[in-house]
Amino acid sequence: MTGFQYITVESAEAIATIAVNRPDKLNALNAATIEELDAAFRAVAADETVLAAIVTGTGAKAFVAGADIAELSKMGPLDGIAVSRRGQTAFRFLETMRKPVIAAVNGFALGGGLELALACHLRVASSRAKFGLPEVKLGIIPGYGGTLRLPRIVGRGRALELILTGEMIDAQEAWRIGLVNRISEPDALMEDARALVKRIIANGPVALALALESVDNAENAAPEPALRLESDLFGLLASTSDMREGMQAFLEKRAARFEGR
Ligand code: COA
Repeated sequence: MTGFQYITVESAEAIATIAVNRPDKLNALNAATIEELDAAFRAVAADETVLAAIVTGTGAKAFVAGADIAELSKMGPLDGIAVSRRGQTAFRFLETMRKPVIAAVNGFALGGGLELALACHLRVASSRAKFGLPEVKLGIIPGYGGTLRLPRIVGRGRALELILTGEMIDAQEAWRIGLVNRISEPDALMEDARALVKRIIANGPVALALALESVDNAENAAPEPALRLESDLFGLLASTSDMREGMQAFLEKRAARFEGR
């Protein structure tokens, strides 16, 4: 995929890697970068040759150091709402993508950068990564879904500590509170992220998509409707040849060959 100014997108072995690419500004998200990310997410979702995505930042220093403060500093109230809604829409699309998305957090993940990582399904961090929601230090609050997603991932008390102090935590603390799934040596981060993605996409793609759908639905629904949808999706999978293949392969003691149907 080409034509982007602030991001790069590469595809290999059915995995798309999307990197925010403004290293001189620590990959801060200006409005144009949000537009490009949104376009890349939609292209990845539509591309049948892509089974999963990794989101990362270019350079050794930053994943994404937040929304672009130079741009935000000029906003009025209506701009503020529009900026927030635009980022929320892009990140919600990513979160509801029916293909696994992993954040490979290579450095600072601050503000909108942490919110981008929170919208991914899993997070792998370099041991040098740093995490925080410093918005209150600027007199604002997280506006790309952070107040919603961080409490759901780490619990309300830990989320409020990060949101109210605005202070950063290191990768070890992020792992301890469940903010990241695993920590890698900096040089091994992308390789480890790809290895994790490969283990995931070795499974049936339709099952992965419906597992993501059921988990996302369950977060926003009362128990009974959530359980009902889980049953319906569970039953729906019995219509796929992937289910026959997965179970047959187990019974024949061989690896399954999934076709995504
Ligand atoms: N928006 C716009 N520009 C940013 C940015 C952001 N969120 N984060 C970093 N930059 C820019 C800096 O202005 C600087 O640009 P310049 O070289 O043109 O002056 C460049 O990126 C390098 O950042 P710098 O602050 O010099 O690096 P550092 O190593 O001293 O500090 C951080 C690193 C991450 C601690 C610091 O950049 C920072 O606090 N950034 C803002 C984080 C934040 O509040 N994010 C939430 C935004 S809502």
